[in-house]
Amino acid sequence: MIGLLHTRAVGAGIERLDGRAKVTGAATYAFDQPVEHPAHVCPVLSEIARGRITGIDTRAAEAVEGVLAVVTGDTAGPVADVGDGELAVLQDDEIAFRGQLIGAVVAETPEAARQAAGLVEVAYEQWPHEVELRGGSAGLRIPGPGSDEVRGDVDGAFAAAPFTVDATYTTPPEYNSPMEPLTTVAVWEGDGLTVYESTQSVHTVRETLAQVFGLALERVRVMAPHVGGGFGSKGTVHAHVVLAVLAARAVPGRPVKLALTRRQMFALAGYRTPTLQRLRLAAGSDGRITAIDHEAWEQSAHVKEFVEGCTAPVRSMYPTPNRRLAQRMAALDVPVTSWMRGPGECPGMFALESAIDELAGACGIDPVEFRIRNDTAIDPDTGKPFSSRNLAACLREGARRFGWADRDPLPASRREGGWQVGVGVAASTFPVIGFPGSAAVVRFGADGRYRVLIGATDLGTGAWTALTQIAADALRVPVGRVDLHIGDSALPWASVAGGSSGTNCWGTAIVEAVKCFRDQHGTDPAEGDEARGEVRENTAREHYAMHAFGAQFAEVRVNGTTGELRVPRMLGVFAVGRIINARTARSQLIGAMSMGVSMALHEQGVRDPRFGHIVNQDFAEYHIAANADIGDIEAVWVDEEDPHVNPMGSKGIGEIGIVGAAAAIANAVHHATGVRVRDLPVTADRFV
Ligand code: MOS
Repeated sequence: MIGLLHTRAVGAGIERLDGRAKVTGAATYAFDQPVEHPAHVCPVLSEIARGRITGIDTRAAEAVEGVLAVVTGDTAGPVADVGDGELAVLQDDEIAFRGQLIGAVVAETPEAARQAAGLVEVAYEQWPHEVELRGGSAGLRIPGPGSDEVRGDVDGAFAAAPFTVDATYTTPPEYNSPMEPLTTVAVWEGDGLTVYESTQSVHTVRETLAQVFGLALERVRVMAPHVGGGFGSKGTVHAHVVLAVLAARAVPGRPVKLALTRRQMFALAGYRTPTLQRLRLAAGSDGRITAIDHEAWEQSAHVKEFVEGCTAPVRSMYPTPNRRLAQRMAALDVPVTSWMRGPGECPGMFALESAIDELAGACGIDPVEFRIRNDTAIDPDTGKPFSSRNLAACLREGARRFGWADRDPLPASRREGGWQVGVGVAASTFPVIGFPGSAAVVRFGADGRYRVLIGATDLGTGAWTALTQIAADALRVPVGRVDLHIGDSALPWASVAGGSSGTNCWGTAIVEAVKCFRDQHGTDPAEGDEARGEVRENTAREHYAMHAFGAQFAEVRVNGTTGELRVPRMLGVFAVGRIINARTARSQLIGAMSMGVSMALHEQGVRDPRFGHIVNQDFAEYHIAANADIGDIEAVWVDEEDPHVNPMGSKGIGEIGIVGAAAAIANAVHHATGVRVRDLPVTADRFV
């Protein structure tokens, strides 16, 4: 067991330490870095979905005033093959998806670069392409071992069950759309490379670039001072980073700056695969689940495989003796799929929690009660007890606060004016991910202040503030005596701000570093005293399964004449261990729930099968919930003390808020109208 941190600052709703700098514009993001005499890069993107380049004419582009270089596959030079097809930028003439990087213009101004990029003439040989995901279509393959599973007698259980559901759910391609797009500033000095990157992990970018460009790790430094959101799009290194570094090599002595446009983000920043999920559920007359059969189809790019684990949450949600899980992937001529908030759990729980709602209805049991009846203290996947699981408490507390008891179980039974009104519920879950290896250094200064150094990043989540609180409590000093330094690969190694793991992993490293510091230097240290600590393996994982849980409640109103849909009220109740900062945690959770409203009602990338591009690739047509779409939205948490997860007792909170949100809304839509929408997004045309 891990001893829990003594807490004083932890838990308080301290204002963001970087808040003032951000709202006054003083915070410098990657692109803002004042490098010496920068040149500007505009990428050139493929206009076909599959084929090869037969010729590139750069003369008109080169003639544009201010153009310094046009980089193509002929001039870029080699990069190392690091086993990541996405990063083999400008290495051959093949086109694997529409929007692939095929060149770059470097110019004195962004305008000149963009104008010239439009004048690059490319001749292609086009090959047939396939960009549409279809369930059961040819070419589908099973991703890596372990994803498929059969337990018990699934068919027998279905044959014997009094209540069953068999339904297929789909989610469309969804796009990470952080406020700050993906940007890179690349500076070569001799064989040394400095990069300012809008990233979730400076160390990942550093290690990747060192490999791709054959540089010693010490020759590469990556900095991410402030980051304007990521949602997974900045969690892995995408092709534009390699392009920017190649472009900088083409203009010796000049740093270069590259910012992807919103449209380019739709091809180059990763996105959530569309999913197609068939769920068969069976229950006995006692309302207990007797069989789960979940089959998920998704797509992956030819250039790089990425598996969105849609069946993952099924493994640990509800116990059942009979279970079949299967995941199938289609390799298509599409851009690279990647992380987007709650990868796997988010679309997977839309399907599962919709199907659970249908099954509860079939059984004639209230959906809150149905979930409580199928709760468990033992992880159905591993057979280990959960370190803590307070799903039932979340459901009960949510039902109480939301006024669930007033709900007439009959669908389409409530009308107010011209609106049909309904409420829905869904469960949330997310694993407590613990990446090993993060390290922190604590140093005491002449000013009586403690410097805490760790190569973490704050995506805008409040990690800067939360980590300072953890450090202050570990040191037993006020928050005002701690200076936290993050966002630089020159700082101790830190794992990615992803998988809702950042604050937990980095916080653990900080607590370890403080322990070492106190052991070595006591409570009255001298100037310059320092110590280093590292995240060790959490042996409690041998004995416990670690997951966060939650319950989402939504009220929807559907206009009987127009089908217009509103979500006036939403409540999330979460069991996520100890909350480090009540203010930023609430923001994280309601932010994710708002993203869930987006998922439920708006977000949908539409790919044109003829040309292979997303036709609505901008904010005018790819809709994201705006303020006017968000009503009374609230997130609260139940007290949960978990001594096993880490010294803070905290679970991740970055992603769980989106998990289940769309299902709660779709379930409320069914309650309001009697219409079961199984294909996201839920749009007005379903009701009129
Ligand atoms: Mo998040 S999708 O784990 O970066």
